[in-house]
Amino acid sequence: MSEIVAHPEDYFKQLLPPRDDLMRQLEAQAEHEDIPIIGPLVGQLLYVLAVAVQARRILELGTATGYSTIFLAQACRRFDGQVISLELDSDMAAQARSNLQQAGLRQWVNVREGDALEILPQLQTSFDFIFMDIEKADYAKALPHCGRLLKTGRMLVADNTGFADADRFNRKIHADSDWSSAHLYGFWPQHSPNYDGLCIAVKS
Ligand SMILES: C[S@@+](CC[C@H](N)C(=O)[O-])C[C@H]1O[C@@H](n2cnc3c(N)ncnc32)[C@H](O)[C@@H]1O
Repeated sequence: MSEIVAHPEDYFKQLLPPRDDLMRQLEAQAEHEDIPIIGPLVGQLLYVLAVAVQARRILELGTATGYSTIFLAQACRRFDGQVISLELDSDMAAQARSNLQQAGLRQWVNVREGDALEILPQLQTSFDFIFMDIEKADYAKALPHCGRLLKTGRMLVADNTGFADADRFNRKIHADSDWSSAHLYGFWPQHSPNYDGLCIAVKS
């Protein structure tokens, strides 16, 4: 049987998807300012998953500078859909709008400022894809709203589920028969942190 490649971290770093100048600037900014972004591999994974489920309507919890939003918007642009992205911090929301404009994706994204836990109960339209990336301790509170808003058979991705604060969420979604979930722990280069958990779930 063939063996695992030598130095798998270096090996897989070579296979990161190519990024343009804007994405590289956002990665450098995240490193300097300690902004916890998903990085290029998880970004590409979001793009692939959102395209696979033909996501027209995408909800993101936690925009920051709009790095992850760019991957989501690139996916839903293919179906002329829309991303609604929720961000608590007004300075971050402004940066995200500007970055999305620069990426030529502004028309596919509505960045809404405010607390996701307050906005979620007000949302009435359904979604094909939800990406959760706010405070990990709040994931469990957001989950019932995601269950209500996500169409049956559609996808939820939650980032940073290796954090102890995500434990309540991890156990809740694992035990809930309304969800089929897979909990991955792995090496996600340039993700913050490089080794972390990721939950991918489908609503039954
Ligand atoms: C991990 S960062 C998001 C990173 C972004 N998804 C990316 O990968 O490019 C988390 C962001 O969620 C925001 N946030 C935290 N709690 C929130 C809440 N309850 N509602 C909305 N935004 C929240 C923070 O201000 C921060 O910008």
